[in-house]
Amino acid sequence: MRKKIVAGNWKMNKTHSEAIELVSGIVDSSYDKSVQLILVPPSIYAAEIEEITSDGDISVGVQNSSQFESGAYTGELSASMIKSIGAQYVLVGHSERREYFNETNEMLSKKVNQLLLNDLIPIFCCGEVLEEREKENHFNLIKDQLNEGLFHLDSTQILNCVIAYEPVWAIGTGVTASSSQAQEMHQFIRGLLVVKYGNEIAEKISILYGGSCKPSNAKELFSNPDVDGGLIGGASLVSTDFIAIANSF
Ligand code: PGA
Repeated sequence: MRKKIVAGNWKMNKTHSEAIELVSGIVDSSYDKSVQLILVPPSIYAAEIEEITSDGDISVGVQNSSQFESGAYTGELSASMIKSIGAQYVLVGHSERREYFNETNEMLSKKVNQLLLNDLIPIFCCGEVLEEREKENHFNLIKDQLNEGLFHLDSTQILNCVIAYEPVWAIGTGVTASSSQAQEMHQFIRGLLVVKYGNEIAEKISILYGGSCKPSNAKELFSNPDVDGGLIGGASLVSTDFIAIANSF
């Protein structure tokens, strides 16, 4: 059985007191324990949130990490630092990082390597902009993103990764991919995993959907055979919405 995952990407939101309030709301809720919940706050709060959640089943991630190991890289956060505070997951290649911070697939592949060297789990994000979908180039684009950013890994390494498909046109727009559009792409991605790593490994890798996923559409999205959960932005900022999504399998 693949892991069911619901991860909340808070992006650049919440002051410290708001962040603590949000975590408290989540920790105090009851949710389906077969689902792995991951909180991905701004990294400045990650250590404290890791401590608050450490006696439960909730894991903590951060939104970005450096492709370099350590040293004179002002403002960067290394994989070993992230590991040292007890975080377990790191988003890699979110479309906002690709778009506003010029992250390339080559950079992302180096970030993935640093994370695996430090026993962290990359949540590797891929997704197409609307123009690519309209040109019907979306499958090629996702294939390239995975080939160049992730598929240099060997079979053991890929088993320690999570993939998130996030169509850029659905992120923060209120427009969700339809359930069949999500399944179609997730099936395609799993097919790429089969070709590269074989069926047994492909069946074990969780593929999350992201892009305007909310309590009202999560159930339908998660009912697809290749959708193993969600990477949630806006709706992860409200504890009741986040928990409702986690209870949507
Ligand atoms: P959204 O963001 O749920 O607000 O669309 C998802 C994401 O960017 O991870």
